[in-house]
Amino acid sequence: MEAIYQDIARQLAARMDAGEFPPGSRLPSVRQLAASHGVNSLTALAAYRWLEQKQRVVARPRAGFFAALPAASAAAALHRALPSPATLVEVDSRMSQLVALSASDVAVQLHMAEAHHSLYPSAELARRLQTALLQRPELIGAYLPAAQHERLCGLLQQMAAGWQMEVKADEILFCNGITEGISLALRHLTRPGDTVAVETPVYFGLLQTLAALGLKALEIPCTPDAGLSLEALEFALQYGPPVRCLVTVTNYQNPTGARMPDDHKKRLLALARRHGVTLIEDDVFGELYFGEARPTPLKAWDRDGDVIYCASFTKSLAPSFRLGWLSGGRHHAALERLRASSSLVSPALLLGTLTDLLASGDYARISQRLRRQLARQMEQVADAVLAAFPRGTTLRRPQGGLLLWVEGPEGLDSGRLLEAALRESISFAPGMLFSAEPRFRHCLRLNFGQPWDEAQRQAIVRLGELAAEQLRTTC
Ligand SMILES: Cc1ncc(COP(=O)(O)O)c(C=O)c1O
Repeated sequence: MEAIYQDIARQLAARMDAGEFPPGSRLPSVRQLAASHGVNSLTALAAYRWLEQKQRVVARPRAGFFAALPAASAAAALHRALPSPATLVEVDSRMSQLVALSASDVAVQLHMAEAHHSLYPSAELARRLQTALLQRPELIGAYLPAAQHERLCGLLQQMAAGWQMEVKADEILFCNGITEGISLALRHLTRPGDTVAVETPVYFGLLQTLAALGLKALEIPCTPDAGLSLEALEFALQYGPPVRCLVTVTNYQNPTGARMPDDHKKRLLALARRHGVTLIEDDVFGELYFGEARPTPLKAWDRDGDVIYCASFTKSLAPSFRLGWLSGGRHHAALERLRASSSLVSPALLLGTLTDLLASGDYARISQRLRRQLARQMEQVADAVLAAFPRGTTLRRPQGGLLLWVEGPEGLDSGRLLEAALRESISFAPGMLFSAEPRFRHCLRLNFGQPWDEAQRQAIVRLGELAAEQLRTTC
């Protein structure tokens, strides 16, 4: 007869094989494993020792147990955990359809990654633009004069210093949102057919960019709690196809909302350097923090200029201004040259307005107001989901950004849920959009950037009912 510890070990191995714990990822602590099986810690420890003998797990002093890295016995798990070889990204029309929803007349729209237009200071910005046009009409007829450009770079430099990130004023390049910044970085670093490591689940706009450039995506697990798995990344870099670069959303990742802890940022930097992989840091949500201090970008610890840092005011000030910027480290000059063949410069009128907003302190006030409102709305949406969705639904409240990642019970099909929801004029982003592989079917991403009202509350209640109905009829 099998001992209890062997039974526990076999169950854990099955969960590893099913991809719940990818190779290299951290396993439950001995205490957690014991509690989840109702046994004492010695039995759980025996299960781990047994798996260790079978080379399925490795113990790391003071860090716990991890799913084993390569060994013949781990090969099957590896194939399930990482797309191997990396997949050439194909983005089908579902994504474009989702984007088209924004222009539709869906009553409760929870699918986007922007705050509602009423949360942005549109009237105030309109007044500023009018004044700027009256006082400085030359902003239309010419590019921003060099002296004003320098002043704006100096203000950004000061702003970044406030988050412990040093950037050189002559290493700041404006671009058309982060989208253009990342595209420039990828064009500089890769050639069609190359492999780029990305988080999974991943922002689908990045998948579209990779597809347009003919690049392959190697998806590295990212969870709301732990963010990007450095263990899985290390494993992929050692045993997967050659990777040119990694694109990572370090603060309030889209869609999981994960914030990478500072310690992980430093470790990621060291890991990337060891493997000669350039990091492209997408900090699009960094300004939307709910705590006391803005998270420090990974770029702050980059002493060798390896990281291409991309930021933007599209989420925190005015989506349609498309004001993005990057600091490219040792790649900066090449990125400047590429930008010259892309969109050349950003509109002087908008750059001038941004300068005024930063210099007057008004941007700090505007973004603080937005953050407070988003923090409240996040709680309201999260409470409503937990109250309305079927048992087995989990979420982690993000501490910034605009997005709530909801993991429904196993068996939920969020694509079918979206079809049903659209019939009732409610939209959200279904989980399978966030991977080039068929993953995350039971998950959904909700936007909490919409002002909280009764219609929204009822829409979430209805989504919960539709999810429960679907599970009942498919069981
Ligand atoms: C992770 C991520 N990166 C980049 C973008 C696009 O940023 P931008 O509007 O500055 O191009 C988005 C938009 O939702 C996003 O979620």
